[in-house]
Amino acid sequence: MMNLKIGFRMLLVTAIAAITGCSSQTIQITPKEKELVREERSKYGVSCFGPNLSEFQWRGPAGIISQSPQFRVHSVELPMQMNQTGLLLVFERVLEEDVGNYYCSATGKDGRGHSISIKLTVTKILEFDTPAEQTTDEYTDYFITCKVKGNANPTFMWTHNDQTFKEKTISGKYSVQEGGLLVRNVTYLDAGKYTCRAFETTSKSSVSGSTEINLKVRHKPVFLSYMEGDPVDLYVFESDSVNLTCQNSAEPAADMSWSFNDKQFTNPSDHYIVTFNQPVKLGLYTCTAANSLGKITRRFNLIEGFKPKTPTGLSVARIGDNYIELQVVPGDEDDKLIGYRVEYVTRAVEPGGKTFESFNMMNFNTTEGPFALVNLKPDTEYTTKILARNRAGYSEYTEPIVVRTLPVIINSGAPPTLLDGFVRKCSFVIVAAATLFAARL
Ligand SMILES: *[C@@H]1O[C@H](CO)[C@@H](O)[C@H](O)[C@H]1NC(C)=O
Ligand SMILES: *[C@@H]1O[C@H](CO)[C@@H](O)[C@H](O)[C@H]1NC(C)=O
Ligand SMILES: *[C@@H]1O[C@H](CO)[C@@H](O)[C@H](O)[C@H]1NC(C)=O
Ligand SMILES: *[C@@H]1O[C@H](CO)[C@@H](O)[C@H](O)[C@H]1NC(C)=O
Ligand SMILES: *[C@@H]1O[C@H](CO)[C@@H](O)[C@H](O)[C@H]1NC(C)=O
Repeated sequence: MMNLKIGFRMLLVTAIAAITGCSSQTIQITPKEKELVREERSKYGVSCFGPNLSEFQWRGPAGIISQSPQFRVHSVELPMQMNQTGLLLVFERVLEEDVGNYYCSATGKDGRGHSISIKLTVTKILEFDTPAEQTTDEYTDYFITCKVKGNANPTFMWTHNDQTFKEKTISGKYSVQEGGLLVRNVTYLDAGKYTCRAFETTSKSSVSGSTEINLKVRHKPVFLSYMEGDPVDLYVFESDSVNLTCQNSAEPAADMSWSFNDKQFTNPSDHYIVTFNQPVKLGLYTCTAANSLGKITRRFNLIEGFKPKTPTGLSVARIGDNYIELQVVPGDEDDKLIGYRVEYVTRAVEPGGKTFESFNMMNFNTTEGPFALVNLKPDTEYTTKILARNRAGYSEYTEPIVVRTLPVIINSGAPPTLLDGFVRKCSFVIVAAATLFAARL
C-alpha cells in the first residue's frame, strides 16, 4: 500500500506538469503506454487528465469503474491546478480477469465528449512446487529440485553467488537438468541461496517466475578465520582487551564451550573478550565448537606484551643516487622480533616555492638487513630512524641519522638530460630487483 501511494503521488506531479505545458482540449493518460502488459498480482495505476475537461470516468470490460476504494479495481479523483481534475485508475492487484480495454472519457467546456483507451494484457506468473529449504550432506552430489505447478514446460535458469547457470550448462560442478540443478561433490561452501527462474514463451504469451531456495549443507564446524599457531600466541599490555574469536560455520549450528587453564567457564558465544587487568588473566584459553558431526578446538595463549629494546648501531650499508640501505646490530633473541620500521623525512619544495617536510615510513617484515629505502631523490638529505617490531608492539625509535643520496653521475658526450633519465631508470630497476630478492629471503 505504501509503495502504491508514493507511486500515485509521482503520477500526480507528472500529470500537473503535462497539463500546464499543453493548451488544447486533449485528453491524455500517464504513463503514456496504450498497450500494456502487466504481471498477475502486480500493482498498477494509470491517470487520465486533460485541460478544461470535467466529468471524468473510467470504464472497463465489466462496466463503469467505481470510485469506491474498497474495490480491487477502482478510480480516484486527482485534484489539479486551476480547478481541474483527472481520474486515476487503480489495480491494487492485477488479475487475469482484468484483461481487456479500458476507456477514460470526459466532457470539454464546449460540452463535447473526449475519450482515450488502453489495452491491458495480463501475464501469468509461474508458481513453484518446490521446498524453500533443502538439506544435504557434504561430499555427495545433490540435486536441488525446482518444479513449477501445473502443466507448464519452462526453461530454467539458476543463479548462485553471482554465477548463472543455464540449461545445458554442464561444467564440472553444476548442471541444469529437468526439475533441478545438480551440484557435484557438495561442500559447506556450496550452502546458501539459489535462485531458480523459469520461463515459458509461446506464440500467445510469455510467463515467468522465480523462487529462492536455501541450500543447507550439514557439516562439522569450521573456523571462519585462520590463525597461526597452536596455541595462538596473543600479546596483551596491561589494561588492554583482546577478543578471542572462534567464529565458525556449522550445520546444525555449533554449541560453544570454553575453558581457561583447563577449567570450564560458561560462555555460549563464539568469542570471548579478556581484559588484562590482573596477572591471573594470563594463560591458556580454549574454545570448542561442536555439533553432531564433529568438533573443533582452538587454543589461545595469552601472554603479557613487552616492548622490544630500541635497536642499536643504526648505520648506512650502501648509498646510491636514489636509494639508501640501512643496517642495525641484530636484535636480542628474547625480544622475538618480527621486523623493523624505518621513518625517513626530507625537505621538499612545493610548486609555489614553500618547503615542507615530506614524511615516509616503511615496514620491513624481516629482521635481516640491510633495509632499503628506494625511489629517493638524488643528492638529497634524508633524516632516518628505525624501530624494532615484535608481535606485542614496537620499540622506541633510535636517534635519527642524516643520510645524503649521491648526485647523479653524468658522463660527457651524450645529451645530459637524456642520460640523466636513463641512469636513474636503470639504477631504479636494479634496486627494485635487489629489494624483491631481499624480501623473498
Ligand atoms: C481553458 O478555457 C479557457 C476559456 O475557455 C481558456 O482561456 C484557457 O486557455 C483554457 N485553458 C487551457 C489550459 O486550455
Ligand atoms: C475555480 O472555481 C471557482 C468556483 O467554481 C471560481 O471562483 C474560481 O475562479 C476558479 N479558479 C480558477 C483558477 O479557475
Ligand atoms: C570432493 O571434494 C573434496 C574436498 O573439496 C575432495 O577432497 C574430494 O576428493 C572430492 N571428491 C570427489 C569425488 O571429487
Ligand atoms: C569480537 O569478535 C567477534 C567476531 O569473532 C565480533 O563479532 C565481535 O563484535 C567482537 N567484539 C568486539 C568488542 O570487538
Ligand atoms: C608486512 O606485514 C604486514 C602485516 O602482516 C602486511 O600488511 C604488509 O603488506 C607486509 N609488507 C610486506 C612488504 O610484505
